[in-house]
Amino acid sequence: MTDTNEDFILGLPKAELHLHIEGSLEPEQMFEFGRRNGIDMPFNSVEEVRAAYAFSNLQDFLDIYYQGAGVLQNEQDFHDMAMAYFRRLHADGGVHAEIFFDPQTHTDRGLPFSIAIDGLLAGMKTAERELGISSGLIMCFLRHLDEDSAMQTLKAAEPWLEHLVGVGLDSSEVGHPPSKFQKVFKAAKERGLTLSAHAGEEGPPEYVWEALDLLKVDRIDHGNRALEDPALVQRLVASEMTLTVCPLSNLKLCVVNDLKDHPMKRMLDLGLKATCNSDDPAYFGGYIGENFTRTARALDLSRAEIVTLAKNSFTGSFLDEERVARHLAAIDAYAA
Ligand code: ADE
Ligand code: ZN
Repeated sequence: MTDTNEDFILGLPKAELHLHIEGSLEPEQMFEFGRRNGIDMPFNSVEEVRAAYAFSNLQDFLDIYYQGAGVLQNEQDFHDMAMAYFRRLHADGGVHAEIFFDPQTHTDRGLPFSIAIDGLLAGMKTAERELGISSGLIMCFLRHLDEDSAMQTLKAAEPWLEHLVGVGLDSSEVGHPPSKFQKVFKAAKERGLTLSAHAGEEGPPEYVWEALDLLKVDRIDHGNRALEDPALVQRLVASEMTLTVCPLSNLKLCVVNDLKDHPMKRMLDLGLKATCNSDDPAYFGGYIGENFTRTARALDLSRAEIVTLAKNSFTGSFLDEERVARHLAAIDAYAA
């Protein structure tokens, strides 16, 4: 890829649809929050933290990610973490984001439910005001916990429902199929929330089928392993289901061995509605801009394919039709 393509990518208006805000916590900020909250860190330096980010699978990562979130203690921490992310997004041409958070990670260590959500909502407001970035908040249920805990979390969120765009499902995938969460997803839908679920990151194609047929999701997060099942691919193409794909995450978690083997181009060739996202950028070595540029370079994506990824990020978003149309027109104007 040429430098001009890289500049083209960074200036291209885009939305991020798969971003765990706790996964945007950079080691520098981890130390800063640890210091101001009087929390001892099990590491001596930023370099030591980064050196620990060598993962061979999803669980390796999750263990250290939940530990890192322990420095988040008050609303200001969540606000500041979110704003740091939005600044990075802005620098990469991002104009909209639908961000995940994991309330159970925080309530299970004793924080009141309100701390994370109020802090994040405040950060989202600041980002809109200072950077002109719009955003939505998606509350994820941790799938390694049981459905009762997810249901209690949905109940705790009742006073904030109008501030959430949807619910999601994340954490350890294998052994925790979507079918485990049918009741809570039905309850979330009845409350007017959109539905998404991580499926087919490490888990089999059957988990993607379950997310579609049992949870009735609006979006699939990852979806890589759907490619193993031609009937499933056909179903995803026919229903224009958006896949929120995360190339650098897939590389760091050994879902692929090399970016050159990444299925992003194959997904586009098959007619799947793929998008390009960063997942947990502080842990996986790159924000959305780097996910676009490194994938485009590794797979030799054309400008048309890069533009398709950006357009998919808006048509696959939970924005209303009028706003989607405005963003698509901005992409057309930019690409012309
Ligand atoms: N939580 C944060 N990042 C995740 C991922 N990539 N998969 C599942 N759960 C996660
Ligand atoms: Zn994820």
